[in-house]
Amino acid sequence: MKRKVKTLFEALAMPEGRGVTVHRSIGRQGMSELDPFLLFDEMVLPKDSGDAGFPNHPHRGFETVTYMLSGRMEHGDAVGNKGVIGPGDAQWMTAGRGIVHSEMPVASDEDVHGFQLWVNLPNAKKMIPPRYQEVSKDDIPTVEGDGYEARLIAGTLGGTSGPVTDITAAPLYADITLTEEEAHLPIPVGHTAFIYGIQGGLSIEGQAFPTRTLAVLDDGDSVTIKGRVGARFLLIAGAPINEPVARYGPFVMTTREEIIQTINDWNKGKFLSPS
Ligand code: FE2
Repeated sequence: MKRKVKTLFEALAMPEGRGVTVHRSIGRQGMSELDPFLLFDEMVLPKDSGDAGFPNHPHRGFETVTYMLSGRMEHGDAVGNKGVIGPGDAQWMTAGRGIVHSEMPVASDEDVHGFQLWVNLPNAKKMIPPRYQEVSKDDIPTVEGDGYEARLIAGTLGGTSGPVTDITAAPLYADITLTEEEAHLPIPVGHTAFIYGIQGGLSIEGQAFPTRTLAVLDDGDSVTIKGRVGARFLLIAGAPINEPVARYGPFVMTTREEIIQTINDWNKGKFLSPS
């Protein structure tokens, strides 16, 4: 059965980090979460933004996925992980029991343009050790499908699997460009799924929507997307976790007690600090 658009959310511009404007569609008033997703930001940072960025900050209880369209971002953390991701690269960070890291743009003649998605962890995995999976653009396969071409960061499409694996929510994360005016894409039944337009208007079962708008899909095994050849969008899906969500800024746990414990741990310096 084909999926239709359940709801449209226009991204809201809001300040984040130090001097950055993000366009947030999940994790804001009206849509605090879309199980298993906790936050979805489009980030555009003009090249002359000085020292704007995301200096050291903590996370606990979930995973973050960063995907870059242009510009470069450097990340660093306490465990010695350090790296730069550039256009077409991705980074999947499991905060688990706690991480303190920074995400700062690298000066270049390009604007920084990318996306960050927060994926929840089930309660049983919230305190696992932190880790990074950094994915170079060269390791992201291109899938030619029915009316589309996809860069596949995570999940399976047309028999191909993306390089990011071993994630509880079994996510599908694909950067898709229409090669015909109509594309047909499979999506696992029962998984939460959304489409986010990057370039060109799109239409699903008669519901049109512009870029910088998140279309939540209803359930089904596939979606038909119409638009001009060259229209580009993200298709993101994942298995719902079906647990309560208790959040406080960069900490996302299951209960209020766990959030209080997390704040206590943070205040007592029980998170790793950058070296
Ligand atoms: Fe972060």
